[in-house]
Amino acid sequence: MTNFKAYRIFETAEGNFERKIVERRTDDLPEGDVLIKVAYAGLNYKDGLSSSGHKGITKEFPHTPGVDASGFVEASSSIAFNEGDKVLVTGYDLGMNTDGGFGEYIRVPSAWVVPLPATFDLRSAMILGTAGFTAALALYKMEMAGQKPEMGELVVTGATGGVGSMAVSVFSKAGYDVIASSGKTASYDYLKMLGATRCEGRDYCNDEKKRPVARMKWAGGLDTVGGNTLTSLMAACGKNGSIAVCGLVGSPDFNATVYPFLLNGINLIGVESAETRMETRVELWNKLSSIWKPEHLDEIATDISLDQLDEYILKILDGKTQGRVVVKHGF
Ligand SMILES: NC(=O)c1ccc[n+]([C@@H]2O[C@H](COP(=O)([O-])OP(=O)(O)OC[C@H]3O[C@@H](n4cnc5c(N)ncnc54)[C@H](OP(=O)(O)O)[C@@H]3O)[C@@H](O)[C@H]2O)c1
Repeated sequence: MTNFKAYRIFETAEGNFERKIVERRTDDLPEGDVLIKVAYAGLNYKDGLSSSGHKGITKEFPHTPGVDASGFVEASSSIAFNEGDKVLVTGYDLGMNTDGGFGEYIRVPSAWVVPLPATFDLRSAMILGTAGFTAALALYKMEMAGQKPEMGELVVTGATGGVGSMAVSVFSKAGYDVIASSGKTASYDYLKMLGATRCEGRDYCNDEKKRPVARMKWAGGLDTVGGNTLTSLMAACGKNGSIAVCGLVGSPDFNATVYPFLLNGINLIGVESAETRMETRVELWNKLSSIWKPEHLDEIATDISLDQLDEYILKILDGKTQGRVVVKHGF
């Protein structure tokens, strides 16, 4: 048994939520056949929600958030993993109702564990994290539906966010011209450095006139915002293009008509990264560590320690982070 530090969320008798760094023991962790000493964790919007007591993400408290973790296998009763193996875990129930990467140790089922690709390091894996994996999954599904670089530009909304930054980077690495839509004009140079061909404000992707079909502005895209932004992306998508839907930072609702489907043959593609099956997961991590590997991982990352999480959780909930926030544990 080992003692370790964890960033925990507690529910008070009044129904409020408090965040504290506490001492825990590996014996307190949930069941699982792989115990991992976490070197790095990634901060995601979902972690912000879990840390604020959002019961749609985490039902029971106290709880340790952190949907992404990378580190070393400390003990394993699975034949698939040996002590000392470098591994990563993103999604499944990690950080939701299973204690997550904001603790220095996690214990998980081996079915959730991905061997770290040989060309990767533990920090890079967490700079990408769920955000990079989600961007890759979106592109994979869009290309399965026929998306090709010669069809035209792909648009990415919420472009300076974790998923957005990764999508700009991965799509451009895969040969696409990318329109980055962002509310942060001061970050246009950052987005161009990541590979954006051009940058536009949020309004560019939010048609206030709510036209069911509009002049083509992009050949496809990835939406992290939802609401009228998603409707607008569908309305101005070129023939047979794909709009991948992954987020709701603007709104979970959207109103649309069937016209973009009937007149332009567009595809609306759902992206659900957490439960992606292992075969696809390994294939995409291998792509992310090679042909789709973003060029500027260091520039995308903000490295923090466990005791800076409070500040960054508030920032991510407020849409104020840029790129990816990576938590380094003190090993
Ligand atoms: N489906 C999946 O598997 C999956 C996986 C990961 C994440 N997600 C979802 O994807 C979304 C983004 O996640 P993330 O981790 O990238 O979050 P994030 O780092 O906070 O990025 C969100 C970005 O959206 C923009 N934004 C924020 N508030 C907005 C608003 N009210 N209207 C329009 N744009 C706004 C901001 O970018 P700009 O300032 O550049 O516009 C912000 O940086 C979340 O909804 C998350 O739950 C889904």
